Amino acid sequence: GDTINLAVIGGDGIGPEVVAEGLKVLDAVSDAKVARTDYDLGAKRWHATGETLPDSVLEELRGHDAILLGAIGDPSVPSGVLERNLLLRLRFELDHYINLRPSKLYPGTASPLDVDRVAPDGIDFVVVREGTEGPYTGNGGALRVGTPHELATEVSVNTRFGAERAVRDAFARAQARDRKKLTLVHKHNVLTHAGHLWRRTVEEVGTEFPDVTHDYAHVDAATIYLTTDPGRFDVIVTDNLFGDIVTDLAAAVTGGIGLAASGNVNPDRTAPSMFEPVHGSAPDIAGQGKADPTAAILSVALLLSHLGRDAEAQRIEDAVTADLAARGEQPRTTSEVGDAIAARIG
Ligand code: IPM
Ligand code: MN
Repeated sequence: GDTINLAVIGGDGIGPEVVAEGLKVLDAVSDAKVARTDYDLGAKRWHATGETLPDSVLEELRGHDAILLGAIGDPSVPSGVLERNLLLRLRFELDHYINLRPSKLYPGTASPLDVDRVAPDGIDFVVVREGTEGPYTGNGGALRVGTPHELATEVSVNTRFGAERAVRDAFARAQARDRKKLTLVHKHNVLTHAGHLWRRTVEEVGTEFPDVTHDYAHVDAATIYLTTDPGRFDVIVTDNLFGDIVTDLAAAVTGGIGLAASGNVNPDRTAPSMFEPVHGSAPDIAGQGKADPTAAILSVALLLSHLGRDAEAQRIEDAVTADLAARGEQPRTTSEVGDAIAARIG
């Protein structure tokens, strides 16, 4: 039916504020009836009950078409507790093996780069970050903690299955774009085992996509290119940790983390995908109406596109493009930005 069954996790800090604006824009743009269920997860719930993500909630979430998430994390909770047991658990349990992070420099947006010089043809690329493996699996441990001989390991897990499905998804996305170019970002000169697995996978899967060209950059060199020649990138495919790092840099060079949207995508649709701004919970500005909701709003566009509602996604993208082009020096509150973008849709 024409109903979107949406689970909403506002989460911590500025999460609920920016999600409210995303929902405002969703209501303005979509012909669908939005049936939303709010889930109270994050720091408050952990303090009150000790729970991060109860199994019963996880099972309920599975029954939705998509999840919209604000932000997770709070300084009052020990580092890693909410990140690992809530956010990463959602990504892993719902098999969000594609962490999709588009980076585009919209006209009128200030980049810290001298864009006329380093990117005369603009910046428009997408990072396909593998979402379920790498050093994020929690496959590590510590010995002799607190002694001078303390030892800690964080083992990066790379399976052919995991790399291959990410690489194939990235090639398909590259094929659907104008430039049809894929760049593998890794560090195969040091991480020889995983690096060679990824390289071979790209070579082999690449034969299925003869019209897509592909190249390779070590992650350290990629950070240079992102600031000196970001226009060279079209689709980047990389592992979970490199993808985390390069997408923060990518956001910074394309107008800041306030604009960066992401999708934790399960392309096989065996579970709902989850859409969230790349930014964190920013507790320092929470509740003050200072947060830019644009990233959350663009995350709603990714959500609609995932649900096959590309025309509605495009209308959000157009409204955001127009709003960014018209943004002046005058600061606006979180809800003013949401109102302005919703008004451009209506
Ligand atoms: C992100 C965040 C998360 C990540 C943290 C909060 C676990 O930085 O979504 O990029 O590292 O993936
Ligand atoms: Mn990150």
